[in-house]
Amino acid sequence: MRAVFHDRYGPPEVLRLEEVERPVPEDDQVLVKIHATTVNRTDCGLRSAEYFVSRFFTGLRRPKRRVLGMELAGEVEAVGAAVTEFAVGDEVFGVKGSGAHAEYVCMTETAPLAHKPASMSFEEAAAVCDGAALALACLRKADSLKGRNVLIYGASGSVGTAAVQLARYFGADVTAVCNTKNLELVRSLGADRVIDYTQDDFTKNGETYDVIFDAVGKHSFRRCRRSLRSGGTYVATDPGLMWHTFALALLTRRIGDKRVAMGITKYTKEDVLFLKELIETGEYRAVIDRRYPLEDVLEATRYVETEQKTGNVVLTL
Ligand SMILES: NC(=O)c1ccc[n+]([C@@H]2O[C@H](COP(=O)([O-])OP(=O)(O)OC[C@H]3O[C@@H](n4cnc5c(N)ncnc54)[C@H](OP(=O)(O)O)[C@@H]3O)[C@@H](O)[C@H]2O)c1
Repeated sequence: MRAVFHDRYGPPEVLRLEEVERPVPEDDQVLVKIHATTVNRTDCGLRSAEYFVSRFFTGLRRPKRRVLGMELAGEVEAVGAAVTEFAVGDEVFGVKGSGAHAEYVCMTETAPLAHKPASMSFEEAAAVCDGAALALACLRKADSLKGRNVLIYGASGSVGTAAVQLARYFGADVTAVCNTKNLELVRSLGADRVIDYTQDDFTKNGETYDVIFDAVGKHSFRRCRRSLRSGGTYVATDPGLMWHTFALALLTRRIGDKRVAMGITKYTKEDVLFLKELIETGEYRAVIDRRYPLEDVLEATRYVETEQKTGNVVLTL
């Protein structure tokens, strides 16, 4: 099968397409023939080892997981003897730690994998899980969202487009901040109000929020704390300069009446099933910016690294 390998950390150019043996599922695994996957910011971060600490998990000197790719949608090609949930021919979608930039992948039955909603294409289904998993992790850092005012900064990214829909689903009053060209998109995702960050600075308009979620790692607690209500929470996706978000999270637990929190992505089967339900009831959709064939993974990666994609970038197989 074809798969995209990297043997060292570095720029997108370390990626190369190779032919390798197709994996064989163990007793508790399914073999998925991948029809679509994505290139996301985590793939890029793991490949570049932008945060050195990631090497403690992925290999100190060189990557142990040589094939990137987390999100996938495809068809079950074979099942292990102990598998009961899936059968050959089932259409599935899900997410895994690595290995999805390939034609086939094995996943255990209990992994974050579910039957694909019939209404969704493989391309859309591949783009569901990663942004939503981080958005869920971040939104869960705030107490109940029902009836609360939530501002989502960076609402046009993969995490942002997921966060707008999920916050809305949890009953929040959502204000989404993005650039001019994406205002209509985020409105269509359910934002009650939109702010164009090229025209208005939400920290200066006198409005206050129960939750400010920086979904793109471009804002800071310092700059927006006056826009947080007493008892409010600032949630970040990124550790920030010198990892100060963690320090602030600890500090604000004891000092002051506004909290800082950081979401850490956790992929679970429960969340994939939850998202599937939202998709089936029309309450969630994946936003796709560009599609590339697998062999154009380099170009796709370079585009993701501009940090200007709208929603998700899909690789098709
Ligand atoms: N904590 C974790 O476990 C974890 C895991 C993965 C990723 N992350 C982080 O999660 C964040 C979001 O990832 P993502 O994939 O959603 O990002 P993304 O899709 O690459 O975000 C791109 C979007 O953000 C918008 N944007 C860029 N600069 C902006 C600014 N200054 N103000 C407002 N919007 C801006 C872009 O639109 P315009 O530039 O055109 O406005 C574009 O639509 C990243 O910072 C990433 O590092 C964290």
